Amino acid sequence: MGTDKESNIRSFGINFPDTNFVIRRCTANDLDGVIEVNERELPEDYPYFFYKSILDNYSDSFLIACEKENPNKIIGYIMWRIERTPSVNSLELVNKGHLVSIAILEQYRRKGVASALLMNSMPAIEKHNISEFVLEVRVSNYPAINLYKKFRYKINTIKKQYYRDGENAYYMIKKVSK
Ligand code: ACO
Ligand code: ZN
Repeated sequence: MGTDKESNIRSFGINFPDTNFVIRRCTANDLDGVIEVNERELPEDYPYFFYKSILDNYSDSFLIACEKENPNKIIGYIMWRIERTPSVNSLELVNKGHLVSIAILEQYRRKGVASALLMNSMPAIEKHNISEFVLEVRVSNYPAINLYKKFRYKINTIKKQYYRDGENAYYMIKKVSK
């Protein structure tokens, strides 16, 4: 039939044996499903155009996880963007890969879906010549902090009252080994 989604699965879809999910790139058709997962699982909501601009600019690292049996059923997503900021010890601008958001539907958690999304998106965002991967996470978000530690992200600083409800964030980073 050759829809966008099918050719996307052919060119990129990753089938994990012994699991019930596949990983593939997000397309414009998938954005509503991504937003649904986000709104269900995270208090940080973004307007549609924000997702669309991430998709337009960083599609190679905007991945979704779908049910193997039902590839239209989105169960998780990950999205990144590149930011250019002054490096710590000079005014030189460096690229950083910023993990904007990751979430997995509750009933599909602890099966390696988030790990698969991270593992398959980090090489793509790394191609933007970044010095490090960075992210913020709620200091109370034990599952996510554990996930990032498993991928060797380290707590760098605390961002006070980073979230609208006043909670602090850990700023976690992982240097790219060059
Ligand atoms: N308790 C302790 N450690 C956990 C937990 C948990 N509930 N969940 C995951 N981990 C850690 C473990 O080290 C785990 O490895 P293990 O299972 O071998 O012990 C590792 O993370 C990998 O687990 P996955 O199965 O790959 O993770 P999962 O698919 O369950 O997704 C996630 C983890 C994304 C944090 C999920 O719980 C979720 O969607 N939470 C709600 C949304 C959220 O908090 N997103 C992150 C916000 S921060 C940001 O987006 C930058
Ligand atoms: Zn952030």
